[in-house]
Amino acid sequence: TKQKLWGGRFTGKTDPLMHDFNQSLSYDKRMHVQDINGSIAYARALSLSGILTKEEVKTIVKGLEQVRAEWASGQFEVKADDEDIHTANERRLSEIIGPLGGKLHTGRSRNDQVATDMRLWLLDAVREMDKALTELIGVMVERADKEKDILMPGYTHLQRGQPIRWSHLLLSHAFYFHNDLQRLKELIPRISVLPLGCGALAGNPFNIDREFLARELGFLSLAPNSLWGVGDRDFVVEFMMWASLTMTHVSRMAEDLVVYSTAEFGFVTLSDAYSTGSSIMPQKKNPDSLELLRGKSGRIFGNMAGFVMSLKGLPSTYNKDLQEDKEPMFDTYDHVLASLNIANGVIATMNVHKEKMEAALTLDVLATDLADYLVRKGIPFRETHHISGRAVALAEARNVQLHQLSLKDYQSLSPLFEEDVHKVVFDFEASVERRCAIGGTSKGMVERQIATLREALKH
Ligand code: ARG
Repeated sequence: TKQKLWGGRFTGKTDPLMHDFNQSLSYDKRMHVQDINGSIAYARALSLSGILTKEEVKTIVKGLEQVRAEWASGQFEVKADDEDIHTANERRLSEIIGPLGGKLHTGRSRNDQVATDMRLWLLDAVREMDKALTELIGVMVERADKEKDILMPGYTHLQRGQPIRWSHLLLSHAFYFHNDLQRLKELIPRISVLPLGCGALAGNPFNIDREFLARELGFLSLAPNSLWGVGDRDFVVEFMMWASLTMTHVSRMAEDLVVYSTAEFGFVTLSDAYSTGSSIMPQKKNPDSLELLRGKSGRIFGNMAGFVMSLKGLPSTYNKDLQEDKEPMFDTYDHVLASLNIANGVIATMNVHKEKMEAALTLDVLATDLADYLVRKGIPFRETHHISGRAVALAEARNVQLHQLSLKDYQSLSPLFEEDVHKVVFDFEASVERRCAIGGTSKGMVERQIATLREALKH
């Protein structure tokens, strides 16, 4: 019969537009594996409760394995009345094994089923994210290790500030991602909570062994309240919040590289593999990969914000609004995973131009070091800052660089300047090496960061 799974109390037909509006199979078929795994575990639990015989379980599992194989080979035939992955799988199971298929849903509801499938799917997704993020950090760390000797200006307000190592900058982005990786792992205990056995809302009336179900499916804990079990989607929100923050970091790194890849900076050149041209301006090589990384962050935040709006104000337990959890979750996963992999490729293949970075090191970025020189002679920093500022003004007025001022010039600003001022202060390498307190840009401290991240990536 063409009857819908829930059609018993209905006499009228579903409007075709309503069918399309209501269906989720077109996208929730992505959870076909999780749905089948959940059903197999549930069939076994039903036999522990005495609802199914051992033989019946065998038949059901065999049938479900055939359904799994049909999905895997692309041979699963979707029927017009299939509404979602749960009804489609059950319909197909019953076609294969007959009326026994109808026993599987005993005590179960799509409400505890869908929440279970979503959590199982997301746990797999988190593992993939973890892998991609770990690989991205790994590429950044290796690159930083190889390019420790390259110096560049460090910026605040996009104005040259102080000399730093290029690797120090790259590692700063890696540390954002390292925190993202930690946060990602921390989501797991809250995703890995089993809803199955909560029934439609009130619980399972067949004394189903939920601890057995959790063990079978690899969940860390059980939903402690059935109303919560079917109604909670905070794990989806948290994942998308995590993704929003992670993409914020991807976006900020991309922005640095967009700026650095302009002709005006010329610090990096993207490989052709991650650039595109202009349809009209033949000379153009655009950093589209980076711009998409930056742009995707908006989309990912939108997925999160949109679904939170759907959740807000819902009455307790399951409401069909919750079906809106899937597309943003899948979309977030797809685009974040792609972004992490693209960022990985961009970083691994771009050219870094040492000479351009070092050419950008104008002497004024040593003005702090000039002030520090006098601090070491005992003058309070507030005064030395002022003296150094006057040296900058003097050099500017004469249209020369700081090191071109003579010892006499310096001594006119402070008698404590000595013969060694040029040698001590106007040396970029010496400047970065003085930043050797933990977290600084000296070579030793950059190596320490590399070691910290390498150690972290082992876990
Ligand atoms: N397709 C539905 C969803 O994704 C499954 C749950 C439907 N449950 C229900 N009582 N209508 O949320």
